[in-house]
Amino acid sequence: MKNAAPLPDCTMCTARRDFLRQSLTVGTALAGLALFGPVTPLQAIEPRSDRGPVKYALPAADGVSIDKVNEVILCRHAGEVYAFALSCPHQNTALKVMPKGAGFQCPRHKSKYQPNGTFVSGRATRNMDRLQITRDGDTITVDPAVAFESDTDPAKWAAAVIKV
Ligand code: FES
Repeated sequence: MKNAAPLPDCTMCTARRDFLRQSLTVGTALAGLALFGPVTPLQAIEPRSDRGPVKYALPAADGVSIDKVNEVILCRHAGEVYAFALSCPHQNTALKVMPKGAGFQCPRHKSKYQPNGTFVSGRATRNMDRLQITRDGDTITVDPAVAFESDTDPAKWAAAVIKV
């Protein structure tokens, strides 16, 4: 039996693959920044009194900020600002931001939502819950205790948005 010919030196193949992989990663990250902005921690500009509203600075650009203490997602996208409950409406798992401005995803059962909170797919049966939100100049006030569910209160859910 004849021995198989030795494989050619693939040093160049590996280097090319690494280069393409790195380029793809950088490109994906930049696309995410361009379309949705970075995900940043959200700082209240005025501490929340016991179970009351909380004040934030109006987001200056498209992006998502998360206040884990008060369980608020603040999202500016396409000329609108929304405040969402951090938890998935299916079984209360903390939602994650998808790359490239694709919206949000639940890590537990993979429900997906658009940047405005509209349900796309998965086990959830309604949109992300929007929180009561008002604007006074450059200040946004959000009440984490007042959440609107799209299936039981669609008019208030649709109205819970700030146009910028
Ligand atoms: S907990 Fe989010 S889809 Fe089930």
